[in-house]
Amino acid sequence: MRRLGHIGPQVPRVGLGTWRRFDLPRTQERLAREVVKLALDNGVRVFDTAPVYGRAEEVLSRALGADRDRAYVATKIWAGERHTGRRQFERQLFLFQGRVDLLQLHHLIGWRTHAEWMQRERERGRIGQLGLTYWRDRAFGGGTAAELEEAMRTGVFDVIQIPLNPAERDMEDRILPLAQELGIGVMVMRPFAEGSLLSSTPRTIRPEDTGCTNPSEALLRWGLSDTRVDVTVPATLDPSHLIANATAGSAPLLSDEQRAAIAAIYR
Ligand SMILES: NC(=O)c1ccc[n+]([C@@H]2O[C@H](COP(=O)([O-])OP(=O)(O)OC[C@H]3O[C@@H](n4cnc5c(N)ncnc54)[C@H](OP(=O)(O)O)[C@@H]3O)[C@@H](O)[C@H]2O)c1
Repeated sequence: MRRLGHIGPQVPRVGLGTWRRFDLPRTQERLAREVVKLALDNGVRVFDTAPVYGRAEEVLSRALGADRDRAYVATKIWAGERHTGRRQFERQLFLFQGRVDLLQLHHLIGWRTHAEWMQRERERGRIGQLGLTYWRDRAFGGGTAAELEEAMRTGVFDVIQIPLNPAERDMEDRILPLAQELGIGVMVMRPFAEGSLLSSTPRTIRPEDTGCTNPSEALLRWGLSDTRVDVTVPATLDPSHLIANATAGSAPLLSDEQRAAIAAIYR
């Protein structure tokens, strides 16, 4: 399994997503600073953002501040044209102090166009690793799962970011085995399906069946116990949720039986 980033094998397996949560006005940025500090203090290292998450990239940049080097910053390019992608990257270099640890092509948009300059930047050291994100076929005008496979086989990309939770398991049949075969790292997005798995009908998690005590722990550990997965990036701006998520990341892997019990609860 290829590990994420220059921080090495110690990279904790729960990171922090920023979609919606970090798109904050100046007056509320204090919340992001508190959560990022708490995250770093609790061992979280991977922060996932994107230029299309409203103000999230710059809010994350200011929240990290002098702690930038303690973080593994994953962000994205969403641009059909080369010059637009380059412009997004130049801004990211400014925001994240000259380096992006993982630069991903959002929804595979423009992956053929951008692969060449991104590889050169990786050689120069201004990008640590290259990634691809895929949610669903043609999402927002992006690529298909077949294109994701094609791009993974080029040997250019180090990491993929894909959805995985007990209600979204499309990636299990082909993409996860391919990532394993090619030694590509896997970052899980949407571990709570945008929170819908937590906010809809409350579920009862029986510790004796699942090895977990509550739904968020069960969902995070379910994903992380797939041995093809490296890291998961739940989004939160709630300090108690942040700590609960970070804690779940250091728990032992669940057994196949415990994973099956959790999957049955969310079927
Ligand atoms: N590349 C892509 O196409 C793509 C697409 C989607 C997502 N992503 C990435 O993946 C990240 C995560 O996905 P997501 O934001 O869609 O949703 P998610 O992480 O599945 O769910 C986030 C929701 O869960 C809540 N939550 C988090 N921890 C909780 C806890 N311990 N207990 C109860 N509620 C909790 C959050 O609210 P609170 O703030 O109240 O905790 C928020 O409403 C994104 O932020 C983004 O970085 C990437």
